Order: sequence, then structure tokens, then C-alpha cells
Amino acid sequence: MTVCEFRPGLEGIPAAQSSISHVDGQKGILEYRGIRIEELAEKSTFLETAYLLIWGELPTKEELEAFEHEVRFHRRIKYRIRDMMKCFPESGHPMDALQASAAALGLFYSLRDLHNPAYIRDSVVRLIATIPTMVAAFQLMRKGNDPVKPRDDLDYSANFLYMLNEKEPDPLAAKIFDICLILHVEHTMNASTFSARVTASTLTDPYAVVASAVGTLGGPLHGGANEEVIQMLEEIGSVENVRPYVDNCLERKAKIMGFGHRVYKVKDPRATILQTLAEQLFEKFGYDKYYEIALEMERVVEEKLGSKGIYPNVDFYSGLVYRKMGIPTDLFTPVFAIARVAGWLAHWKEQLAENRIFRPTQIYDGRHEAPYIPIEQR
Ligand code: ACO
Repeated sequence: MTVCEFRPGLEGIPAAQSSISHVDGQKGILEYRGIRIEELAEKSTFLETAYLLIWGELPTKEELEAFEHEVRFHRRIKYRIRDMMKCFPESGHPMDALQASAAALGLFYSLRDLHNPAYIRDSVVRLIATIPTMVAAFQLMRKGNDPVKPRDDLDYSANFLYMLNEKEPDPLAAKIFDICLILHVEHTMNASTFSARVTASTLTDPYAVVASAVGTLGGPLHGGANEEVIQMLEEIGSVENVRPYVDNCLERKAKIMGFGHRVYKVKDPRATILQTLAEQLFEKFGYDKYYEIALEMERVVEEKLGSKGIYPNVDFYSGLVYRKMGIPTDLFTPVFAIARVAGWLAHWKEQLAENRIFRPTQIYDGRHEAPYIPIEQR
């Protein structure tokens, strides 16, 4: 078979057959295992949605309780992981700390038993349970504090906010955080998921799969855009500055962070829900002046780029939500990873079920038969 056409970014080329999630980019629809995200955001929890994605069906009450129980009791990280993290430079980016820590887990669980459902389940539980603990631990340790131990009486999202802020979160904030995790958990064949599947296809361990996906998620064209949105809103500083800022970006052909998507040609449905969540937080905890700037940006970008299908993506409003919860800007992408790990693991499991190693081809446009020039003659 010869594929002649080269599509930069593999645009439009299927990399897998998958039944995990579906996007209709023209209508702005996102479904997990066939269920619309709006319905899951309203009725489900992050752990229930993770279960749905990984095992294909919504759990029964007993199945969900068992899963929640397992995750709850695997939240602690090993002392040696914590000690290793203590040695990380506090100036390092938390995504790098997370990538290194996720990979280090593989050192402790080196048995690779990919055909054993119990091994798959243990790995899923361990990764979903410990990633939030590692994110919170690095945050506290880089401030010079000891990490806070997980609290078994708190549910998944409340416990993360507790470990991060060293105090029990407001119930509305915890609920909204849980919805944010649902919105970020999975999104078809994006860059980090592709990365996870490529790594999985070599039959390596799930810790390597997650570590490679974390590395991919961190870039500013992918999950890292949520940090840059906040930096951009701060730089703009006032509603009047929005139009000149947008014009300047367009003149320089610079990308405006938080806008545009390979698949969505309308507003990302996750951005719509996140905007509503931001408003609920502002109502309870006070207004954020950057929201006004964000609204004006949405208006101006739509006016200028709407005809190209450029609208807010998931990263545009998520930063405003996280900011209101007191989450530092450089933790926005690690928070994204806390959610997305369940999506990556669903793809890991699906990839293993019908695995063939990824080995695409390339179009070679280099030289042939080139002479080797001795070093002194170069
Ligand atoms: N600002 C200005 N123009 C844009 C933007 C943007 N954010 N996004 C796309 N465009 C324009 C491009 O300049 C291009 O115009 P042209 O046809 O006149 O050259 C056209 O729209 C198509 O853009 P591409 O870059 O080819 O789109 P692609 O599908 O490769 O990229 C991407 C998608 C990476 C998300 C892009 O829109 C972007 O860089 N956005 C900003 C970064 C961002 O917010 N990333 C988060 C995405 S969501 C996520 O990963 C979780």
C-alpha cells in the first residue's frame, strides 16, 4: 500500500478505530461513549465518567462504589516518590514534575502483565488515584511546605482541592471542579491521546504511556494554552485594549490563545459549560475583572475570525474558573492532566485490545549517495 499524500499534522487521517468519544465539530457536540457531555456534566461525577470511558458502560451502584473505594485507598504516594519530588527544582514547571513522577511510578510497579484484567484495573486505579496527590505534593513542596496527606472522608475532587490549598474546599467549588474534570477527561484523537496510543502500541507499561502523554499535553498549542490565556488577559489589562491586541496578533499572524480548534468550527461545547461555571463562581465568590476582558475578546475574535471557524476552545474559560478557586496559573495544565489521565487510560486499554505497533511512513526529501567529507575538509 502506498499513501502518497502528506498531510501536515495528519489532519483528517484516522489513527485508530475507537468507540470512546465522538466530536461533531460542525454542530459543537461532544459525546463520551455516546452520552452528551452536557448530560454528564449535570448528572455524573468525574469518577463515574472515568469508569464509563474506561470500561465502556456506566457502572452500577455497586461497581461505582467499589471503584470509588479503590481510588480512595490508593491516593497516598510512596515516601520514595515524595522524596524524589523534594529534589526537583522549585522553579521547574509542574508539568515536568508530573511527567517525571508518573514515569517514576513505573519503577515501583515494574511487573507488566498487559493481558491480565486485574493488572489493567490496578494500574488504572493507581494512576487516577495518585496523579492528583503528586500535583498537590509538588505545589506544596516547591513552597517549602510538607505535602498534605489525602483525606479519606473527602471525595475525589474535594480531596484534591484540600491537598492543594491545605483547607477543606467550599462545596460549590468542589462540585464545579469535579465538572471541570468531566469536561477535560477525553477528547478523541488529540495530540496527547495519540502520543499515549503510540506509546501503548509498543506494549510498554501504563506509567510510560501516561508520562509520554503528560509531556505532549504540556505544549502551548495543546493543554498549555490555558495558562497562556490568563497571561494574555493580564497583559491586555482592560476592555479597551482588546481590539488593538487582537489586531496586532492578526497583523503578526500570531495565534490568539484559547481560540481555534482542529475539529470544532463553532464554539467548543466545553467552553460554553465552563463559561457558565465561571459565572456561578463569580456570583458566589465575587467578580473577576478579567471575565469582562474575556467576553470582549470573544466578541472581537468572532467578528474577525468567525468566518474561519475560530471560536473559544476549552482552554479559554477554564483558567478563569481555576483562578477563582485559587489554583496557581502554572497548575492549570497539570489539573487538565488529572482529568485526562482517565481518557488516556481508556485509549491504552482500547489500544491493547487490538494492538498493532504504530509505524507510519514518511516522505523522504533528503539527499542520496552523499559523500562522506573528512572532518578536516569541512
Ligand atoms: N488565532 C488566530 N488565528 C487562528 C487561530 C488563533 N488561535 N487558530 C487558527 N487560526 C487561523 C490560522 O492562522 C489559519 O489561518 P489561515 O488559513 O489564514 O492561514 C487558520 O485559522 C487555520 O489554523 P491552523 O493553525 O491551520 O489550525 P490547526 O488545526 O493546525 O490548529 C490549533 C489548531 C493548534 C488549536 C490552533 O487553533 C491554535 O494554535 N490555537 C491557539 C492555541 C490553543 O488555544 N490551543 C488549545 C487547543 S484546545 C486543546 O488542545 C486542549
